[in-house]
Amino acid sequence: MENLQLRTFADYKKAYKKSTKDPEAFWEGIADTFTWQKKWDKTLEWDFEKPEVKWFQGGKLNITENCLDRHLEKLGNKTAIIWEPNDPDEESRYISYRQLFVKVSRFANVLKNNGIKKGDRVCLYMPMIPELAIAMLACARIGAVHSIVFAGFSSAAIARRINDSECKMLITANEVYRGAKKVNLKEICDKALEETPSIESVIVYRRTVEPTAMKDGRDKFWFDELQKAEKDCPAEEMDAEDMLFILYTSGSTGKPKGMVHTVGGYMVGTTYTFQNVFQLEKDDVYWCTADIGWITGHSYIIYGPLASGATTVMFEGVPSYPDYGRFWEICEKLKVTHFYTAPTAIRSLAKQPLKFVERHDLSSLKVLGSVGEPINEEAWHWYNDNIGKGNCPVVDTWWQTETGGIMISPLAGITPTRPTFATLPLPGVQPVLMDEQGEEIPHTNEPVEGRLAIKFPWPSIARTIYGDHDRYKEVYFSTFKGKYFTGDGAYRDASGNYRITGRVDDIVIVSGHNLGTAAIENAIDEHEAVVESAVVGYPHEVKGNALYAYVILYNDIEPSEELIKEIREIVANTVGPIAKPEKIQFVSGLPKTRSGKIMRRILRKIASKDTENLGDTSTLLNPEIVDEIMADFKA
Ligand code: WTA
Repeated sequence: MENLQLRTFADYKKAYKKSTKDPEAFWEGIADTFTWQKKWDKTLEWDFEKPEVKWFQGGKLNITENCLDRHLEKLGNKTAIIWEPNDPDEESRYISYRQLFVKVSRFANVLKNNGIKKGDRVCLYMPMIPELAIAMLACARIGAVHSIVFAGFSSAAIARRINDSECKMLITANEVYRGAKKVNLKEICDKALEETPSIESVIVYRRTVEPTAMKDGRDKFWFDELQKAEKDCPAEEMDAEDMLFILYTSGSTGKPKGMVHTVGGYMVGTTYTFQNVFQLEKDDVYWCTADIGWITGHSYIIYGPLASGATTVMFEGVPSYPDYGRFWEICEKLKVTHFYTAPTAIRSLAKQPLKFVERHDLSSLKVLGSVGEPINEEAWHWYNDNIGKGNCPVVDTWWQTETGGIMISPLAGITPTRPTFATLPLPGVQPVLMDEQGEEIPHTNEPVEGRLAIKFPWPSIARTIYGDHDRYKEVYFSTFKGKYFTGDGAYRDASGNYRITGRVDDIVIVSGHNLGTAAIENAIDEHEAVVESAVVGYPHEVKGNALYAYVILYNDIEPSEELIKEIREIVANTVGPIAKPEKIQFVSGLPKTRSGKIMRRILRKIASKDTENLGDTSTLLNPEIVDEIMADFKA
């Protein structure tokens, strides 16, 4: 294993230049440092119009050999995962690379014993415990495709995802601790399992001692199965372009998109970006607070750090339990050197008295990271001043589930940072800004604003949407011919630094969670009193954005607080509690274009209290509705 880190700004510039002049040679050099069972024949084949991207074709490998086996000789005793429980009085767990290797191999045999083969899809609905990491790596070991569903999603959301990719197995835990609460995951799964004919077996990890209802013939306990499993499990030979995992992300129709990532490119991309953005040294302790149910956890708790031989922290709990000092207490206790979190967490912690920070010794910290949404100036400075004490570079990393790895970000201590800017593209990434006419805005010394697209493939780009390649093409490659469209708007300063301004489509990022408004509207519309609804985002002090729902009721229905509660409940049950609208306003109509499309732009402005300039409303089908909605606006 070679170190892939660039060391100076000049190194970065040189690498960037090479990566655009000869992308294939650039990525070959990086890919060469990994363990391949057979070297690839063709580095890159691509066509953004089909669209099709293939990296390292003909190469054979297993990502777990790169995350585990290759470290055993030199780093076998090094801690791979430090697990920090929800309850500070429970003991942390330290798992070395060798122990992780043994656990993964054994659990891989559990999968095999239960009929899972290469290519089968396995759904994981798990708390943040090491067994989640073990289960995902065990899937990768035998070539099964993991589809992790965030353990805050509802039964209906799990069922939809399981059915979309026809998972054969579900792995879960009986319960999960989340702050002062305990949630029964198995019960949520059982409800989902009523509608998932493809599931043949369920493996249940016992996180608590509570009795758990098990279905005969289908449900099995993790530990019982382990007892029966062999110790050794050879790594399956995988093609570089074989599927590694599916991860669902919200779309602008109600249906979630199962983004497909493949083994070779994803491994190369996440590892290279992990090492360069964070710049870890040998004994550093790296902590990303994301949940593994999101892409950040996949790429930067598990695959990137483990392929790099790093020590990665997994935290089961929440930042506010037992008090708002929990993150800082963990940093002190584990001597965390690299801390990677989301702006929403920073904002909610910045609202608390500083004593929660000052109580703790944060001198081990060297690098701070941010991800998931634009970080505002105030939060950036609070983070930089109070957590980094002005000594830790803040890397604001812009990327997406679809990109697999970080695309635009400072490299810690190597390239300059600038508050609220994700700054420069990583080597291998070729961003462009597009104007309203769909033309590329040239690079000049003028600051410009536009829609962010990428014009050349990088190894960790998602290859398709599971089972729906047409939609993949439509969503990402049809807005700008021959380019990948991100769905984000961005500003670029005279030196080429990017600042991401936010989504330009019907996706709202609430507390760092990607939510499609269409799915929420569908849920609301299921209520028997509701005719139609429109959901938009508006700025929120802590969450970044919150949701505002405009709801039309049937004529004979009286608006009531009870209804508001029921509507929020429906959304919680269908999409998940994170998607509950903050505000609900009952309206008699929605502003529509003549072709019947809801004018969300106007609704967004009203919800954001930005009604000075609503634009021309006279072309609407029903312009009078705008005044009515404004008059009843819920401040
Ligand atoms: C937003 C999370 C500004 C963006 C890794 C993107 C950001 C969406 C940043 C993807 C950032 C992510 N600055 N915006 N540093 N990072 N975003 O798929 O709108 O959950 O398109 O991936 O989050 O969210 P996703």
